[in-house]
Amino acid sequence: VVCVENITNVAALAKVVMEETPHVMLAGKGAEELAYKNGFQAEQLLTDSSEAAYREWLKTSEYKPIINIENHDTIGMLCLDQHGDIAGACTTSGLSYKMKGRVGDSPIIGSGLFVDNEIGGAAATGMGEEIMKTVGSFLIVELMRQGKTPQEACEEAVQRIVTKNKNIENFQVAYIALNKKGETGSYCIHPGFAMMQYKDGTNSRITSAATLDS
Ligand code: GLY
Repeated sequence: VVCVENITNVAALAKVVMEETPHVMLAGKGAEELAYKNGFQAEQLLTDSSEAAYREWLKTSEYKPIINIENHDTIGMLCLDQHGDIAGACTTSGLSYKMKGRVGDSPIIGSGLFVDNEIGGAAATGMGEEIMKTVGSFLIVELMRQGKTPQEACEEAVQRIVTKNKNIENFQVAYIALNKKGETGSYCIHPGFAMMQYKDGTNSRITSAATLDS
């Protein structure tokens, strides 16, 4: 689902589109109407602090999107169940201070998230435009199909962006990946990105290796 307002759990709404409609993606009001028909409640998503920040931004209204370089702006999840089946979800409020109508990578299948139950899954966070231009999550799954480990595939997908950009100091991209064997990988441009892994009853926080030193 794309450009949905007033609904907190948009990943759950995307699941309704997947399971209950003949479509792959719904946008805006149509997606919101489907949500209400399926029991979702309208919620005020704007916090006092984000409204105050927005009012401050209105003074200049400059479209200079700021991506959170230190860590991430999006939640991507990949799961392997006891039957060996893989599922994934991705949810975000997206880049701040963007132009009206801007769509990021998160809802775009193959960019912010891709799962092929024969191979594995991948999810992205960071500057959506760069992820979309390289169809990053799909790329990672295809690299795993060719025999790369999740770690090698994440590194190659980040490298693809790095070699095509002269300004990587100004944005972050990070990927996580999981294959059918339960192996995981993650990689990012700027240090600071971490993923949580739950495996064999243990939670661990894994700090990703990065292209840049600082
Ligand atoms: N990765 C989220 C966005 O670019 O909006």
